[in-house]
Amino acid sequence: MTGASPIGQRMRTGLLKAGQRVQLTDYKGRKSTITLSDGGEWHTHRGVLHHDKLISQPEGIVVENSAGFRYQVLRPLLNDYVLSMPRGATVVYPKDSAQIVQVADIFPGAHVLEAGVGSGALSISLLRAVGDSGTLNSYELREEFADIARSNVEAFFGEPHPGWTIRIGDAAQRPLEIEEPGGVDRVVLDMLTPWNCLDAVRTVLAPGGVWVSYVATVTQLSRLAEEIKQSGGFTEPEAHETMLRTWHLDGLAVRPDHRMVAHTGFLLSTRRLADDQLPLELKKREKVSEPATEDTQAWAGTNDDEIWDQETLKTRVVSRKKARKAAANSLKHVEAAKEIVHDE
Ligand SMILES: C[S@@+](CC[C@H](N)C(=O)[O-])C[C@H]1O[C@@H](n2cnc3c(N)ncnc32)[C@H](O)[C@@H]1O
Repeated sequence: MTGASPIGQRMRTGLLKAGQRVQLTDYKGRKSTITLSDGGEWHTHRGVLHHDKLISQPEGIVVENSAGFRYQVLRPLLNDYVLSMPRGATVVYPKDSAQIVQVADIFPGAHVLEAGVGSGALSISLLRAVGDSGTLNSYELREEFADIARSNVEAFFGEPHPGWTIRIGDAAQRPLEIEEPGGVDRVVLDMLTPWNCLDAVRTVLAPGGVWVSYVATVTQLSRLAEEIKQSGGFTEPEAHETMLRTWHLDGLAVRPDHRMVAHTGFLLSTRRLADDQLPLELKKREKVSEPATEDTQAWAGTNDDEIWDQETLKTRVVSRKKARKAAANSLKHVEAAKEIVHDE
């Protein structure tokens, strides 16, 4: 960090400078990101834009290129940056990074463990959240991914983050050599087999500390949840996903956009219990009645009642009382409908 300004602040405020990235938006809303340089030029089939027209100007100006095409000029926000930066591995989408920071309760000054690093998209959000006084220890198997992430993170902040260290190695082992037992406040994993890190996380995470894992498939989600439950030492895991639907705004034509990113990943979170404590066994709703086998077979369209039973499917059992109440309600609707028809 230079001077007293918080890390990254100089990259995001003041007049545009050489070395900074800017996002150019054209008349169709298409976005291109360029890095400004003294005397630099941006060539497209629609003409040339001289970087010097932008340098020393405020954000938000609209400039014309050599052919008279106009571009709106803004610094990319973090959301824009991670989607346009060079990628090795798939990045965590901004909607998920935001959730991770919130669900994992990442706070300024926290000591956070992350794995894997991939392209560094999530690392940037974590580093922002821990601030200049916090630390992020990131573990990554592949040296070349670590290199991409290092460059992406440094380019975003404009300098190395004082609290960030990447280590090459397996997140299931390396943290045990590096971290103090119970010395980590938060753990965030984005990797294929997070359950392999169970012992390491249990050792390094402080009592009360939050562990959030980001996984792409339900099979990973299920395996991780079951292994955490069986291992003890953690609270009952919770899972959710975030679906973001953007909207089209044009006069009276206000509606959801036709396309959306339908699936990115699931978040699973849990907290470390104090040593030698067993998790509370949550009281489950008692089953009121068992369905007849032929009913479940008819419903599932199969004879394989080992797979298609309610226990395996974890479907909610509706009590007799509730069903009778619903039936009575629907009868009332039938009667009301009959009256309307009769009156007409
Ligand atoms: C999907 S990428 C992470 C993307 C990253 N969160 C981002 O937002 O850019 C998964 C990464 O986990 C790394 N990885 C997989 N298994 C690992 C392990 N056991 N220890 C450390 N890193 C691992 C992979 O090499 C890969 O870079």
